[in-house]
Amino acid sequence: MKIFYNLKNKIDFFLRKKLKFSLQNYEETSENLSNLFGDELKQRENDLKKKYNFEFMSNMTQLNYKENLYMLDVLDKYFRINPYESINVLDIGCKNWCYVRGQYTFFQKYCHNLELKGIEVDAYRLYWNLFSRYEVAKFYKRDLKNTRYIPKDFMKYDEKFDYITWFLPFVREYPHMRWGLPLDLYKPKEMLWHAYFSLKTGGKMFIVNQSEVEYDIQKELLEACAIPYVGKGEIISDFLPHKYRRFAIVVTKKGSDDTKWLE
Ligand SMILES: C[S@@+](CC[C@H](N)C(=O)[O-])C[C@H]1O[C@@H](n2cnc3c(N)ncnc32)[C@H](O)[C@@H]1O
Repeated sequence: MKIFYNLKNKIDFFLRKKLKFSLQNYEETSENLSNLFGDELKQRENDLKKKYNFEFMSNMTQLNYKENLYMLDVLDKYFRINPYESINVLDIGCKNWCYVRGQYTFFQKYCHNLELKGIEVDAYRLYWNLFSRYEVAKFYKRDLKNTRYIPKDFMKYDEKFDYITWFLPFVREYPHMRWGLPLDLYKPKEMLWHAYFSLKTGGKMFIVNQSEVEYDIQKELLEACAIPYVGKGEIISDFLPHKYRRFAIVVTKKGSDDTKWLE
């Protein structure tokens, strides 16, 4: 059975990559974003608004606003970063990058020049409406300066980053195959090692796993690679409910590079 599914995934993945078919110019209609939450969440939304520049958190659907508020809320609560003059950030496995505005809003606060990249190996997967992830991501990242969506295998991408975010890496074979990816792309340990290698000295990575089981596997992988980490435990944000509980880990690349710090 596994051989059959792998063959099917391999052929589908190969065709998607070759054909790169998609309808063009994906768009969503903006919705009213006021009064979406009860008192407690509204207070948190207002606190985030006060702390961050919400310039790019508008003209979106209610669902997409919640996806981005969730991202911003989680980064704000669980990821401490240092202010730099310039920061470059990578999001690994960014899918359609529906949460890019939350990431942009977060990192923008801590630097003058932000370069934000998202990398996705299966960028040409089609939604039911015949738009690819790549095309949808182009819409989500519209008007965000220095933001790039890279349709590529992360294992074949070499650049050093100050910060890496990695939401829901595949650490088990079954979800990887269910996602429609061929087994030769399933390399959780090598990917983790490559991610660590892609951090600048002193850089940090924020990994989020879904379910305690995957969180434990992620920690085992880090230990097997001798990568030091801090387990943050369960992360909670009520802006967007998820089926499975989520857990976070922060990895800091050993050493420090303090030449770029802001005054
Ligand atoms: C479970 S999904 C998570 C998507 C997104 N980060 C989120 O939180 O909604 C994992 C994503 O990683 C992508 N991925 C897996 N292996 C990859 C690789 N080698 N390079 C780039 N992306 C990869 C998958 O195609 C998929 O979109």
